[in-house]
Amino acid sequence: MTRLLAVLLAFLCMTDTVWARQPFRARNGIVVTEEPIAADVGAAVLKSGGNAVDAAVAVALALAVTYPVAGNLGGGGFLLARFADGRSTFIDFRERAPRKSSRDMYLDAQGKPTRDSIEGWRASGVPGTVRGLALAHKKYGGKPWKELVEPAVRLARDGILVSYGLAQTLSGAAERFNRYPASKEIFGQPYQPGDTFIQRDLARTLERISRDPDDFYDGQTAHKLAKAMAANGGLITLEDLKAYKPIEREVLKGKYKDFEILTAPPPSSGGIGLLQMLGVLEGSQYKEAGWGAAATIHYIVETMRRYYADRSEYLGDPDFTKVPVRALTHPEYIRKVRSSIDAERASSSESVRPGSLGAYESSETTHFSIVDKAGNAVSLTYTLNGGHGSGVTAPGLGFLLNNEMDDFAAKPGMANMFGLVQGEANAIKPGKRPLSSMTPTILVRDGKLFMVVGGPGGGRIITSVLQTILNVVDFGMNVQDAVDAPRFHHQWMPDKITMERGFSPDTIRLLQQRGHTVETASAVARVFAIVVENGWVQGGADGRSYGKSEGF
Ligand code: DON
Repeated sequence: MTRLLAVLLAFLCMTDTVWARQPFRARNGIVVTEEPIAADVGAAVLKSGGNAVDAAVAVALALAVTYPVAGNLGGGGFLLARFADGRSTFIDFRERAPRKSSRDMYLDAQGKPTRDSIEGWRASGVPGTVRGLALAHKKYGGKPWKELVEPAVRLARDGILVSYGLAQTLSGAAERFNRYPASKEIFGQPYQPGDTFIQRDLARTLERISRDPDDFYDGQTAHKLAKAMAANGGLITLEDLKAYKPIEREVLKGKYKDFEILTAPPPSSGGIGLLQMLGVLEGSQYKEAGWGAAATIHYIVETMRRYYADRSEYLGDPDFTKVPVRALTHPEYIRKVRSSIDAERASSSESVRPGSLGAYESSETTHFSIVDKAGNAVSLTYTLNGGHGSGVTAPGLGFLLNNEMDDFAAKPGMANMFGLVQGEANAIKPGKRPLSSMTPTILVRDGKLFMVVGGPGGGRIITSVLQTILNVVDFGMNVQDAVDAPRFHHQWMPDKITMERGFSPDTIRLLQQRGHTVETASAVARVFAIVVENGWVQGGADGRSYGKSEGF
């Protein structure tokens, strides 16, 4: 008997089921998001027969109430969907530069960038979230729009319980809220965990949106917003709001090993980066030394360094500048990039220029991944850019406005808030969309949905999505382990590797010996992913967040 138990125990110890962190598993549908109440809202929509797009609309609007640091009506983002029949689409609802904007609008008399692109009334691009969600719903949703807005209305009107996380983020931004009366009144109070957080203005705005999403662009909400902008030196006018259009774009597609990759086209820089980096890695021996080995990290870092150099030069809004998507992901070009990597020694970023043909993190953006019972999938990342965006709440409307204008190159060649150096291709022009790093992505194997992935984290999003995919595909991790595993980041400039806790000091020393500068950071982005395998839909909500997976 004892022997039998010993054998059984030995067997259990060898299986992943016992010792690896476990993903949330469901049979039918799942929502993985950064805030638990919104996960419940989405799962309820799926359970009651809504499809993945329905759930995405409900989750995005719920997050605008429950997660004000990034969930939004006043921002923008990208929705990538793949349907069970194999079709896919990408809805770009990124903010646009207002008509009154101009190339040098954020430079002072000496030509130095000011903080106006980061905080205050002049920092916002024209928001795209409401029309983006409405377009997705109109073309691909199943349930009535009103029914999907209703949970958000209820949460705003009746209030939510303040969690530890919400209390922390709001109090962390109190100083900024104090500078804007409506922000102070709503978000700048000394909330404690367990308090009830009621948002009456937002509830009324959402009620109007539930009757007609165009209210945001052409109705009472639009008029109030334009009036407040004019009174406070902001740029957004009623014409800007009326003219805002989300764009349905062709999904960027590529391959990695046996997987088809569906990802974000420009104005995201993420999809091109992901495909270029995966391409470089696929033809290499990068993983021979194993996960977390200095040789492995070194090779991936060199791959990152090279892509971010290209990013700084070539990427921008494809409606304004020609983005060489094909060239940057072409097998010949990728071969050239690969052959420039020394597998032993670090290159210096000074010597790596954009191919011929950086940073502190003010986090907040948010991502969620959804799969429904039929196998339709949505990968959605949206944002106010910095935490709580510009810090401004339009009086009477109850929502925060973005500071997405900082994603442009205020001064081409100089770093933005994420330390990213960007070029002329991303200079400010009226109507233009700023370059983004948001990288909602879906993997397909043998014609079947395999993985849904994405995350927030500014310029670190692309490298985090890359590592999560490598963790699953090349290192055999389950989805929870894959999102939780320590990550690193390199973005060409500044020339250093940012590494999370969890790598051994010996590994760091070996990287330094290869010529790398290493800094440690508390977090390199956050990832919210799903893997569909063996009849289970498995969710991984990043352990760096308070997020959760919910399903049935
Ligand atoms: O679009 C972008 O790349 C940025 N606005 C995203 C900002 C972000 O992820 C901040 N987050 N954690």
